[in-house]
Amino acid sequence: MTRAAEPPTNDHADRAPDARGRRRARRQLRVVVTAGPTREHIDPVRYLSNESSGRMGFAIAAEASRRGHRVALVSGPVNLPTPPGVRRIDVESARDMLVAVQRAFRGADALYMAAAVADWRPARRLSGKWRAKDGGAARAKIELVKNPDVLATVARGKGPRIVVGFALETGNGERRARSKMMKKGLDYVVLNDASALNATTSSATLIGRDGTRQVLPQKKKQQLARVLVDLAETWPRT
Ligand code: CTP
Repeated sequence: MTRAAEPPTNDHADRAPDARGRRRARRQLRVVVTAGPTREHIDPVRYLSNESSGRMGFAIAAEASRRGHRVALVSGPVNLPTPPGVRRIDVESARDMLVAVQRAFRGADALYMAAAVADWRPARRLSGKWRAKDGGAARAKIELVKNPDVLATVARGKGPRIVVGFALETGNGERRARSKMMKKGLDYVVLNDASALNATTSSATLIGRDGTRQVLPQKKKQQLARVLVDLAETWPRT
């Protein structure tokens, strides 16, 4: 994509090594990050959601902003302060997130999709409260329909821009994470195990479509964020 309209190189930011290890002035990037869970409402007071603190996405947004990049953070409901300099867009459902990410990614250079998007939503959202009737049945069914895959949808039109997904897996996750990366058309996938949930630290494996694989043992999410922002900074310019 064309870089002509972009602001000049951000001179006050420090210098990062490029892919060949050379230091060069850092160019200001436009970075989109997603964080937190989505909520899929059953009725006005109940919803389906995923476990997610939002910390990983917020750490990436904070790190990218600290380095002088322009950051849009699309966040589900979380209890975290907006990092300095970051433009935050609050959303609830997966469908809201899709719209917000598509808009923010227009003209952006990089996407980090750290949100825990709900795969399913109730087929109907009741306008009034769902009443558990006295003496009624002991079971009930909620019909679910598939949500859009935000990452796969946006990655389809990414062109040469870098897109990083996350996979939280239990058991032998590496094969599954790699196949998600290929299926969704990602450049990298960050594989976490469930111990990362609600934690300030996370051990991760960074898997690249180019065949690279980097194990990042137990790191603070801020440290992991540094490695991840380096990826966008060293991504080949087009
Ligand atoms: N993701 C997304 N939209 C969805 C589901 C997932 O954008 N509807 C993104 C997540 O933000 C994450 C990546 O896809 O970056 C992998 O998410 P994950 O839930 O592990 O993948 P799924 O395709 O939902 O597979 P699974 O069946 O394991 O839940």
